[in-house]
Amino acid sequence: MRHVLWLLLLTTLPALAGKSCVDCHAGAAERSYALSKHGVIARIEAGRERRRTPDCAACHTFEAKAPVPQHYAKKTSRTEAREQATAGCGTCHSPRYVAEQLAAAQRGLAIGEMKRREAEALVELARKEVSATELAQIDKLLTTLRDENLRDLRLGLAHQSPDYQWWLGQAALDGSLLRIKGALGEARRTPGPRTAGPGGL
Ligand code: HEC
Ligand code: HEC
Ligand code: HEC
Repeated sequence: MRHVLWLLLLTTLPALAGKSCVDCHAGAAERSYALSKHGVIARIEAGRERRRTPDCAACHTFEAKAPVPQHYAKKTSRTEAREQATAGCGTCHSPRYVAEQLAAAQRGLAIGEMKRREAEALVELARKEVSATELAQIDKLLTTLRDENLRDLRLGLAHQSPDYQWWLGQAALDGSLLRIKGALGEARRTPGPRTAGPGGL
């Protein structure tokens, strides 16, 4: 059994080593970069000797050096990786511009987290008031808000992509929050068996 595992490791490692970031991080990570000014300019200048904007590895210096699929063998290394990802901005932009960008990202994320907390509080209420079927539907909306909308916002801020920050991020968070409110209101109006507690408004 152990031999089989070793064999598996030896045969998969070279394949993993030859992979580029986007082979493993296709989807939102790749697209948010592609839609950013960095990504657009990188595409236009692909193949040129001197390129003005960073690619994945230029910012993610930690992950570029760390072996995959486990970039973060130590617990602290994810924190280290995050710090390294913004350490290079200043080689191309002024310190003031970078500080402004990072502060704006912090604010954007705080707003996103506020929306998440508001949604979670509503779902807590729903848990006490509505039937299991209605709750399942509301829970699904919360999952979308947390796992998709908030992730897209994070990536939009990290990768300076207006599309991901605003449309797929903040606007989508607002949309999910409204749908949760709507579903809760609807469930409260619909007469039917309740799991616990008083129904209605
Ligand atoms: C062979 C697949 C593979 C390759 C190639 C790869 N990664 Fe990863 N990456 C992963 C996996 C799996 C994780 C999740 C956990 C871990 O690594 O410890 C991850 C996690 C990450 C994370 C953190 C994501 C999160 O949600 O917290 C970042 C950032 C990242 N990778 C960037 C990169 C960059 C940049 C490159 C190219 C230099 C790269 N990765 C190459 C597989 C890969
Ligand atoms: C301009 C610098 C820059 C470039 C270029 C860049 N990233 Fe990032 N990326 C960041 C920063 C900053 C973060 C936020 C800190 C962190 O999570 O490490 C981040 C976060 C991420 C995350 C984690 C997001 C999460 O959900 O927490 C992934 C995955 C990722 N980048 C992959 C990529 C891939 C793949 C590319 C290339 C297609 C790329 N990045 C290009 C700076 C960059
Ligand atoms: C290799 C050089 C380089 C690095 C490193 C770099 N950038 Fe850029 N960045 C550029 C260039 C070039 C542009 C396009 C400037 C232009 O023509 O508007 C740009 C554009 C931007 C824009 C868009 C501005 C706009 O007008 O829409 C933002 C925001 C930005 N960078 C933030 C960052 C942050 C934050 C980091 C670090 C995580 C970073 N950059 C790292 C070169 C770089």
